Amino acid sequence: MSAGRFTFFAIRWIGIAAVLAAAARLLWLFYVYLASEAVIERRYTLPSSLVHASKDAGDVAQGKHWMTVSGCFGCHGDDLKGRMIRSNSALPIWSGDLRAFAAVNTDGDLERAIRHGLTPDARPMWVMPSDTFAYMRDKDVEDVISYIRSLPPRAAPPRVIRFDWTARKAIVAGRLAPKSPKADEILSPADLGPRFDGGRYLASISCAQCHGGDLTGSGYAPDLNVAAKYTRTQFFQLLYDGRSRAGKWIPTMSPLARARFRYFHDYEVNAIYDYLLARKTLPAWTKEQRAEFNESAGKKPTAPPPK
Ligand code: HEC
Ligand code: HEC
Repeated sequence: MSAGRFTFFAIRWIGIAAVLAAAARLLWLFYVYLASEAVIERRYTLPSSLVHASKDAGDVAQGKHWMTVSGCFGCHGDDLKGRMIRSNSALPIWSGDLRAFAAVNTDGDLERAIRHGLTPDARPMWVMPSDTFAYMRDKDVEDVISYIRSLPPRAAPPRVIRFDWTARKAIVAGRLAPKSPKADEILSPADLGPRFDGGRYLASISCAQCHGGDLTGSGYAPDLNVAAKYTRTQFFQLLYDGRSRAGKWIPTMSPLARARFRYFHDYEVNAIYDYLLARKTLPAWTKEQRAEFNESAGKKPTAPPPK
């Protein structure tokens, strides 16, 4: 074969390979689009709801208390008009304007958004931490809704969530998942009986968002067994002033204490501390037990086993 013919063939094959690669990429993008669209467009069964907001000043004040300690204001803004949330890098998202949402939706719609992570048209929510509010008591959700309804209603068109390629790829890779189905299979903090119910409840609606559904830690937030290293006085200091055991400012907890936890009543801090101390005395799960549990819940291990 002459040099000229060889070059001709080489160029031809390189061309064919390039076209094939481009086609494969297009096919892959098409797959990503369809697979993510199936998740995004999926509709869920809306559970019925029996909660009813009240106008009682005590209920409204209690609702504001729950919203403070469970972080609603942090994400929805002090005036509840909503703001940009970037906690999931794959999906920057606008948290809803709760006053506008309440103006056009029923108490049941609010309850389903808060506890089930479902929109009124049965779509899943993506960032709203409904999984940690799934066990919020009826009366407490009612108080929360009562507080939202006590504010002047607003008119604002609902924002449409934009799923770009980054978000769609994250969905297909399993790094971004709707919150709603999770609400049915969430982990809950270890049950230590009625004596510790109050503290367990407060920890689930207030600490689990970061420390994990079963409080065994997730991301940067440690297993809450760490609380056992704190004396009661130090624990109060952490939640009320944001000072760690060593008397230091710590990046996440300190600002949270100022914005949220200093509004806990003394008896609530005591209850959380009592619960966390009791929890520490439980025998720790082995890796095998956790793997078995996760398998039965039909999902991969998310939280590391307790130390
Ligand atoms: C980590 C941030 C975060 C926290 C904490 C949070 N939310 Fe949300 N919430 C969101 C985001 C983001 C959305 C938008 C829907 C989505 O995630 O797909 C949302 C949506 C909602 C909606 C539906 C509004 C709409 O316009 O669609 C309601 C109602 C709501 N949240 C109530 C609450 C209440 C009540 C609390 C506290 C008990 C709370 N949220 C705590 C981030 C948060
Ligand atoms: C928004 C996320 C978030 C929430 C909500 C949260 N934590 Fe934390 N927590 C963290 C992170 C992250 C750390 C690691 C230290 C830091 O960055 O402040 C931490 C550390 C701690 C520590 C160890 C501090 C040390 O000595 O190193 C304790 C104890 C603690 N949290 C208790 C709680 C309790 C109790 C609650 C609920 C009342 C709670 N946290 C709610 C994120 C959170």
